[in-house]
Amino acid sequence: MYQRIALMRNFCISLLVGSGIFFQPIQAQDFEPNYEEGLVPSYSLPDPLLFANGDTVTSLEEWNSRRQEIFKIFEKEVYGKSPEWDGELEAEVLFVNPDFMDGKATRKGIRLHLKRNGQDLPLDLLIFYPNTRKSVPAFLGLNFYGNHTLATDSQVVVPTAWIRNNETMGSSDNKASEAGRGKRISNWPYEKIVARGYGLVSLYYGELDPDFDDGFQNGVHGLFPEESRDAASWGSVAGWAWGLSRVMDYLETESWLNSEKVAVLGHSRLGKAALWAGAMDDRFALVISNNSGCGGAALSRRQYGETVARINRSFPHWFAENFNQYNEREMELPIDQHQLLALMAPRPVYVASGVEDRWADPKGEFLSCVAASPVYRLFDLEGMPVSSPPAVNHPEMGHIGYHVRSGGHGLLEYDWMQYLDFADLHF
Ligand code: GCU
Repeated sequence: MYQRIALMRNFCISLLVGSGIFFQPIQAQDFEPNYEEGLVPSYSLPDPLLFANGDTVTSLEEWNSRRQEIFKIFEKEVYGKSPEWDGELEAEVLFVNPDFMDGKATRKGIRLHLKRNGQDLPLDLLIFYPNTRKSVPAFLGLNFYGNHTLATDSQVVVPTAWIRNNETMGSSDNKASEAGRGKRISNWPYEKIVARGYGLVSLYYGELDPDFDDGFQNGVHGLFPEESRDAASWGSVAGWAWGLSRVMDYLETESWLNSEKVAVLGHSRLGKAALWAGAMDDRFALVISNNSGCGGAALSRRQYGETVARINRSFPHWFAENFNQYNEREMELPIDQHQLLALMAPRPVYVASGVEDRWADPKGEFLSCVAASPVYRLFDLEGMPVSSPPAVNHPEMGHIGYHVRSGGHGLLEYDWMQYLDFADLHF
């Protein structure tokens, strides 16, 4: 069906081109995405436990080498290589409020300065933690529209970094405004998180790397002006992921926190970043992907919903240039996304989908969890406890967790409740 639509469109576009009315280049994203299970091509996935030379992994020691092999492929072909951090990190305390939530919590604002090469990249962290517990486990996640969207009062300032325009979130001319204040509290239910005994640390992703194609001049890439870029250099997803590690560098100095119990979490493009952060940095003890889709938890070979070609053409700055080699050639990828999940082992990883979020391929995200499980079994751990997709709103939690909830694309309270249960189980 979708091939037919594509052919018809192609034909119409050719007619228009022929008549001189239409002169846009024809690109994959102009065609309807495939949402029919019957049109998913047959494929076989690369085996995470088979070395490139065909040898089988039989021990944890061999897995460590194979893990390295897989990691390097993702680095070179998908996300791009991030530099070692050789700069300085300075923390400026903006405010500390120990009487937050009627004294049940502390809310803190920290401005981190990433300093290198005479440059200073400021990152504002918004931190909540319960006052009733010592050595607190916490969630760390990037937000889409600024820390002020997680606060009702003006102690939390509106960011000045570039921001995507969104009327509801109060941003226009690529600037955030007061109109966005408090608008994302339901997506970051800090009162409930704190009540369950967890901390929450969030920062605006655009402070790490503004989300537009600027030739990698600004944000974290701009801290490395001497870097000569090639087809395997880091894109924005890797920039956001790398930034999460710099936040972790700082969090290790916070005395309220148990830094061995930090879960990294992200939604959508930031879910892709959370997964890559978890792969690069094993200080993230638990990793959560919320509706991350293509280039995140979903299998690329299924070509369901968003495809590699579509994502690369719509967001040319997100991945390494090398990833373009696999546009419409998913079967040639030396890896698939289940191997990204496997890089977390033996740490727990959770993948969540929304049943109406077909663009992110909920089933492809689930199958990815199943295909990552043999690596967990090597550690004598249960990966994904079931092999067919669970019913809507029926989470499954082994060392890999998964749910598909009702509704579409979004980070909702239902998702958070499962992440809290999963963290209770493993922390
Ligand atoms: C687009 C993009 C997705 C991404 C999403 C988001 O829909 O195609 O890959 O996950 O934006 O970040 O919200």
